[in-house]
Amino acid sequence: MFFDTHAHYDDRAFDDDRYALLDSVHDAGVELIVDPGCDLKSSRASIALAERFPFVYAAVGIHPEELQDSTPEILAEISALAEDPKCVAIGEIGLDYYWDASHKEEQKLLFRQQLQLALELDKPVIIHDREAHGDCFEIVRDYPGLRGVFHCYSGSAEMAKELLKNGWYLGFDGPVTYKNARKTLEVLAICPPERILIETDSPYLSPVPHRGKRNDSRNLRYIVQTIAENLRLEPETVAEITLENGKRLFGIN
Ligand code: NI
Repeated sequence: MFFDTHAHYDDRAFDDDRYALLDSVHDAGVELIVDPGCDLKSSRASIALAERFPFVYAAVGIHPEELQDSTPEILAEISALAEDPKCVAIGEIGLDYYWDASHKEEQKLLFRQQLQLALELDKPVIIHDREAHGDCFEIVRDYPGLRGVFHCYSGSAEMAKELLKNGWYLGFDGPVTYKNARKTLEVLAICPPERILIETDSPYLSPVPHRGKRNDSRNLRYIVQTIAENLRLEPETVAEITLENGKRLFGIN
């Protein structure tokens, strides 16, 4: 009954047990998964996983850390991959000034090109925003028809309010369970339940009590538990609502 809307099962951290792990994750109650690509190779791998497993859906895109993949030829290939029936979004795309603040203009251009692609293909986007809140916010405002999720949202509650007003979803991941989650919990408190998505970002960002270990979608329950406690809802209710939210955003029946 869980929907992990962001997990990188194409990552090499899963090379030894990828298929068996996906089977056991599904058996453990993870009903749906979206695997976002980060470059051309991982976008292809994500499509391949989605073709193999009925419960896995793909997203394709070039992550800001993969700027070297931002040639017109590669973007054309991403665009072609996006036509696959199992591709439900463009992502993960965005800006990352933590990783590299010296190529901001190149990152912004790549981001805009992919937002434009999403609009043309009428697909939602999965946005990666790390220490680039102001620019991400300004750029998405230039694309009024666009919909999607701010993955592992780490901006302010003020910016969250504006995004929510414009129909955006917010993704909550392992960090919501960390001791220093105060800012994220403030955002959670103002986020209507029908705009929350739950994500693991596997293999990264394991929630407490597995922080520091390889993450997988079975750990969603810790994220759901924390959200449920904070919103004073039952965990089952949070799981159900977020499953519906993900299906709605990604157009999965
Ligand atoms: Ni990710």
